[in-house]
Amino acid sequence: MSYEIPRENIAAEPFMAGPPDFNRKSRLMQTDKVYECMITNIVELTDMEKLFHLKIMDPGESRLFTFRPGQFLMLELPGFGEIPISISGSSAIRERIGLCIRKAGKVTNMLHKARIGTKVGVRGPFGTHFPLERMVGHNILLIAGGLGLAPLRAPIYWVNEHRSEYADVAIMYGTKRPKDILFDYQFDMWGKIYNYDIHLIVEEPDENWKGRVGLITELFNEVDIDPHRTYAIVCGPPVMFKFVCNHLNQVGIPMDRMFVTLERRMHCGMGKCCRCMVGSTFTCVDGPVMDYWTVMNLKEAI
Ligand SMILES: Cc1cc2nc3c(=O)[nH]c(=O)nc-3n(C[C@H](O)[C@H](O)[C@H](O)COP(=O)(O)OP(=O)(O)OC[C@H]3O[C@@H](n4cnc5c(N)ncnc54)[C@H](O)[C@@H]3O)c2cc1C
Ligand code: FES
Repeated sequence: MSYEIPRENIAAEPFMAGPPDFNRKSRLMQTDKVYECMITNIVELTDMEKLFHLKIMDPGESRLFTFRPGQFLMLELPGFGEIPISISGSSAIRERIGLCIRKAGKVTNMLHKARIGTKVGVRGPFGTHFPLERMVGHNILLIAGGLGLAPLRAPIYWVNEHRSEYADVAIMYGTKRPKDILFDYQFDMWGKIYNYDIHLIVEEPDENWKGRVGLITELFNEVDIDPHRTYAIVCGPPVMFKFVCNHLNQVGIPMDRMFVTLERRMHCGMGKCCRCMVGSTFTCVDGPVMDYWTVMNLKEAI
């Protein structure tokens, strides 16, 4: 049986109008540039997490530095190593880069010993971002588990900075214990000034805890979701976003209106070393932010 090759001129198809970006070159700009930064402030959030404020030393470079909510940086502590960290702050404030860092191993333990004035290097920003323009006019559901609130702070600020463009905003946040809760000093501001609806839950309460107890999915009983008008951003461990996204799907939110961030061990952050690959997908360039439909179709992504 012979197979006839279609005779269409594929070069004339609209999607072939430009040269294909096979090597993702358009997304690999500024990848080798290292910004020299100084730690200007450190906020102790819990026993395990600190918020670091960095300032790019060169005022010209500092003015030009921008990022989109959901992107990450490669943070270098000279002599110890370089690690990927999500940007946890407002993209509108250029003179301060916020990074919330949990003690995990070699580099992060040393960072927790750093003082104000310590010099660090920063490359980036890297990766995909939450498509907040696409969410304009909709309700936004921001859902975080544990350290997941760190990357979520960037869209929390963004939506407030463009508040009139979005409808109702709800934050659902769950941690293991009350002492693991991050950024609790900001909840009042997010609720009363930003006009966000905030829901908290912990799995293991202590004697002072008066709030909800259980898994984060139990907060769905408190939040009224209009599936036709809602986008969701879900950050946390894969086991959590799997349950959360399945629940959101059951209430009628399509999977391509839910966005999650994928974490993988990373080395270069720029699509060169292949350390972060899932199949043929580079988590550092094609992610870390992905819609849940894409994640579900990516074998072994979660
Ligand atoms: C895109 C992205 C964004 C991230 N954002 C943040 C953030 O905002 N705040 C934060 O505290 N951490 C974040 N991480 C995780 C952070 O990069 C790791 O904790 C860090 O690299 C650990 O380095 P280390 O030298 O201290 O630990 P190591 O000595 O290298 O390892 C210590 C332990 O941490 C585990 N680990 C190391 N890297 C990762 C990783 N990428 N994912 C999961 N486990 C890992 C190791 O398996 C080991 O058990 C992010 C990771 C990625 C990929
Ligand atoms: S971290 Fe090197 S290719 Fe993604």
